[in-house]
Amino acid sequence: MTGLEILLLFLFAAISLILFILTQISHQAPSWYQALSENKNLAAAKEKGVERVDRASTLVYTGIVLCFLLLIGLSYVYLRDTIYVGHLHEWMNIIVRWMHITFGIAWIGTSFFFVFMENSLVQNKKRPELKGDMWMLHGGGFWFVEKYKVAPKVMPEGAHWFKYEAYFTWLSGFALLFVVYYFNAEAMLVDPNVWDIPGWWGTLIGIGSLAIGYAIYHFLSLTPLLKRPAWFGLVLFVILIGFAYFYTSIFNARAAYIHFGALIGTLMAGNVFFVIIPAQKAMVRATRAGAELDPGIGQFAGLRSYHNNYFTLPVLFVMISNHFPSTFGHDQPWLILALLSLASAGVKHYLNLKEKHQQSVWVMPFAIILLVSTVFITAPEAVGGECTDEVSFTEIYAIFQERCVSCHSSQPTDDVWTSPPNGVVYDTPQDMAKRSEQIMQRVVITKTMPQNNKTGITPDERERIRCWIEQGSSTD
Ligand code: HEC
Repeated sequence: MTGLEILLLFLFAAISLILFILTQISHQAPSWYQALSENKNLAAAKEKGVERVDRASTLVYTGIVLCFLLLIGLSYVYLRDTIYVGHLHEWMNIIVRWMHITFGIAWIGTSFFFVFMENSLVQNKKRPELKGDMWMLHGGGFWFVEKYKVAPKVMPEGAHWFKYEAYFTWLSGFALLFVVYYFNAEAMLVDPNVWDIPGWWGTLIGIGSLAIGYAIYHFLSLTPLLKRPAWFGLVLFVILIGFAYFYTSIFNARAAYIHFGALIGTLMAGNVFFVIIPAQKAMVRATRAGAELDPGIGQFAGLRSYHNNYFTLPVLFVMISNHFPSTFGHDQPWLILALLSLASAGVKHYLNLKEKHQQSVWVMPFAIILLVSTVFITAPEAVGGECTDEVSFTEIYAIFQERCVSCHSSQPTDDVWTSPPNGVVYDTPQDMAKRSEQIMQRVVITKTMPQNNKTGITPDERERIRCWIEQGSSTD
């Protein structure tokens, strides 16, 4: 064993021990709550105690997450120069992505559900303190929900908060940025044909842009514009598309798309963390103290929460966009983002209005026209002219050997792709022929392969591949 290995082993054991202790503590925490809630004599002391347990348990959970991250980091250092590193990377990707999707579903699900309830409340004349109430049927039972205009007179026990969905969605998304883009920034984030910068620059710009984007949005929402939703939406839309343009002019298109999504996701999580939850805490404090509540606090938080509702569909598109080269592979990739964001926010607007039983005939057709126009805009242009000469397979085979198989073979030689990307291999002529439709799409039409044109395919070679496919992709 080398000195480094002994050190790693020691750290591994130490962190595992800490992890074990922390999980034990978190296991005990509920009984402490119990003890506190049974001690009824001193309400104030109890409240303080509960707050303390709350804070302590947050620390414990953070500790657990940090320990896990450290263990993964140590494993990475340990496996760095072995054949297992690609495998570890893949599993980090799987696990973090899985978490991201799960938390995201929980978050967006509650977000949709609460906006739906807000929109569907029925006013109750006998209860002026209520904004409204509503009946629902779900899971084999009757549900009755009341929403207060400001807050109830007495702070209820055990109210549920909805915040960890949001925090964990953001944290797992941020981690995923590292796993997919920043760990391999040279290959995944920057594209020398777009802007030739070192990977770590790209990483800094990517992370910095999220913070700057949130700051701009936050200050915009402190201006009087906030009270004029249509104008606010317009200005914010222009700013966001500015970011989309910025990202597509410095990163490869796929990474640019994800950064656009990450930026909007950051606005959403920031709204929860910096505005909505602090506002709710202020409301709880005031209710406990029996003080007069400023309804403005809740309304401001409510507006920011409403913005989140419009952000959801565009973000979801971006999260799946990576599968669709005709979107990010377009000449003006930011334009596609702009159109799809506008259209999907329009769809959400329509749904909101419909829940409020307002007629708005134009919104939906407008959104559909935008969506359909995107289909046309992304349609392939007729590429090249007639293929007069017969392209021989020998020629095509040579092009694939030179431009593709460094990544797409069962034993890739590429420095980043140590296993064939998406399992696509071109080991045999049949492997090439049977994927000709995909090859047409990626190499000829969207020109998104070879990735970042790392192997330097020429326009003439793309032409020859096109003609080979148009002539029936023969492998003779
Ligand atoms: C530098 C490595 C690299 C080179 C070289 C490369 N590719 Fe790829 N290829 C990838 C990666 C990574 C993916 C998966 C991500 C994506 O779809 O963009 C991929 C995906 C694809 C896909 C889509 C597979 C799917 O399941 O959607 C096709 C088709 C493809 N490549 C064809 C080619 C062809 C043809 C060439 C040569 C002209 C080529 N690639 C050269 C890295 C490379």
